[in-house]
Amino acid sequence: SVLSRGYHEKVISHYENPRNVGSLPKGDLDVGTGLVGAPACGDVMKLQIRVDENGVISDVKFKTFGCGSAIASSSYLTERVKGLSLDDAGKIKNTEIAKELCLPPVKLHCSMLAEDAIRSAIRDYRSKRTKTSDSQQASY
Ligand code: FES
Ligand code: FES
Repeated sequence: SVLSRGYHEKVISHYENPRNVGSLPKGDLDVGTGLVGAPACGDVMKLQIRVDENGVISDVKFKTFGCGSAIASSSYLTERVKGLSLDDAGKIKNTEIAKELCLPPVKLHCSMLAEDAIRSAIRDYRSKRTKTSDSQQASY
């Protein structure tokens, strides 16, 4: 069980009381959606960011279908990236998450899922913006 001894209490707190669970409207132009899976176990994480006009992450939501460490990693990550620029958020490493939550080595890939998810959400947001400015130019 994820609640068994050996798990750091911070993990348990993020596991029992995950922050920022939910969804943002995928179609909104200021929302980026990352959806990633862990090949090692088949767990899936969806992470969404809303970005304000200054390029700062103003809101974050996640849904993780996976183990306790994956849920804790995504919960931790949502708190960590809120208020950050996209560039700074994209630099967060899974090793930081794992260290912060004291994940054991066998659970490293769970934190990798969170790193992949935020990068994928940033990519989605940026590609949406690129497409929009392309089509705006095309309509001139
Ligand atoms: Fe999927 Fe952890 S292996 S829940
Ligand atoms: Fe696979 Fe945690 S065991 S994400």
